[in-house]
Amino acid sequence: MPNVRSYESALKRSNEIHADLAQHPENYTMLTGDRPTGRLHLGHYFGTLKGRVELQNMGVNTNVLIADYQVITDRDTTEHIQDNVYNMVLDYLACGIDPAKTMIYTHSAVPAANQLMLPFLSLVSEAELQRNPTVKAEMEASGHELTGLLLTYPVHQACDILFCKGNVVPVGRDQLPHIELTRLIARKFNNRYGHVFPEVDALLSDTPLLPGLDGRKMSKSYGNAISISMTAEETAKLIKKSKSDSERMITFDPENRPEVSGLISTAAICTGRDEHEIAAEIGMGGAGALKRFVTDAVNTYFEPIRARRAELAQDMDYVKDVLHEGNRRANEIAETTLAEVREAMGMVY
Ligand code: TRP
Repeated sequence: MPNVRSYESALKRSNEIHADLAQHPENYTMLTGDRPTGRLHLGHYFGTLKGRVELQNMGVNTNVLIADYQVITDRDTTEHIQDNVYNMVLDYLACGIDPAKTMIYTHSAVPAANQLMLPFLSLVSEAELQRNPTVKAEMEASGHELTGLLLTYPVHQACDILFCKGNVVPVGRDQLPHIELTRLIARKFNNRYGHVFPEVDALLSDTPLLPGLDGRKMSKSYGNAISISMTAEETAKLIKKSKSDSERMITFDPENRPEVSGLISTAAICTGRDEHEIAAEIGMGGAGALKRFVTDAVNTYFEPIRARRAELAQDMDYVKDVLHEGNRRANEIAETTLAEVREAMGMVY
C-alpha cells in the first residue's frame, strides 16, 4: 500500500528520534493520553508514564490528554468519569508529571480541538477507517457494536495529536495504525490547503510489555493489575491471592509457567534486576517466598509515589486547578490552530 510504513521503518525512525531527543528537545512536541476508565496500573507506569516524565525533564514540550470522549467509544456509560479524571490527574502528578512543564487536559473541555474533526473526516475514506485493525480488535474485545464514534475515533485521535502540532507520540505497537492515519490526514490537509501540520512519528518503547500477575495481558478486568494508587496492604493481598503453580522450584519460563513468570517480571522491573537471577535466588523457596519478594519490590518502588499521591489527595482543589489550567492552555492552543485551519481553508469571514 502506498504511504503506509512498515513496523520496521516506524521503528527505525523512532530509534533516530530517541537518539536526537536529548540533543534537540526543543524540536519535539509530545502528545499522548489515557482513557479515564479506572486507575492507572504498573503496566501504564513502566510502559509509558515513566517515559513521559523523562521526556518532560529533557525539555521536550510535553502534553498529556485525559481522553474522556474515548471512554464512550466502546461503552454506553460515563459513570464515575469525574472521579476517574481527577484520580488520573493524581496518578500523573504522583508519578512525576509536573504541571508547570506538561499540559494536562481533557477532550471535552477543548471545543476547538474537537472541531478539527470535521475537516479531518473529509480527508479519510470509509475503506481506510474500516480496515483499521485496532478498531476491529477493540470492537471484538469489548463486544460493542461498531458505532460511528468507534469507527472514527482514530480520526479524533489525529485531532488530539495535531491540535497542538504534536510530532512525537509514545505508543505501543498496536497504536501504529492510528499514527499512520494521523500522518495521512496531516499530509492530505497540507497538500490540499497549505502547510499547517507537522509530520508525526511514533515513539516506540523498547521496554517489553509488563504482563499481569498471572502472566496474561495486564488488565483491571482480569484482576491481575496492581494500581499505582493501591496501598501496600492492598498490593500484598492482590499478590498473595494471585495464581502460581504446583512446582516448588522457581524458574523464569514465561511460555510454560506464565503465572510464576508474571510475578518474577513484576519484581524484575521494580528492582531493575534480571528475571533469571531473581528466580535463582528464590529457588526452592517456592511461591510463598516469591510472592513476598514481589510484594516487597513493588511496595518499595512505589512507596514515595504513593506517599506523594496520598498527600496530593488531601488537596483536591489543587488537583482541580491543575486540570483547569491545562484546559485553559489547551483551549488557547486549539483556538490558534483552528484559526490557521480556517485561514488555510479560506473560511475567514
Ligand atoms: N487511545 C489511547 C488509549 O487507549 C489514548 C489516546 C487518546 C491517545 N488520544 C491519543 C494516545 C492520542 C496517543 C495519542 O490509551
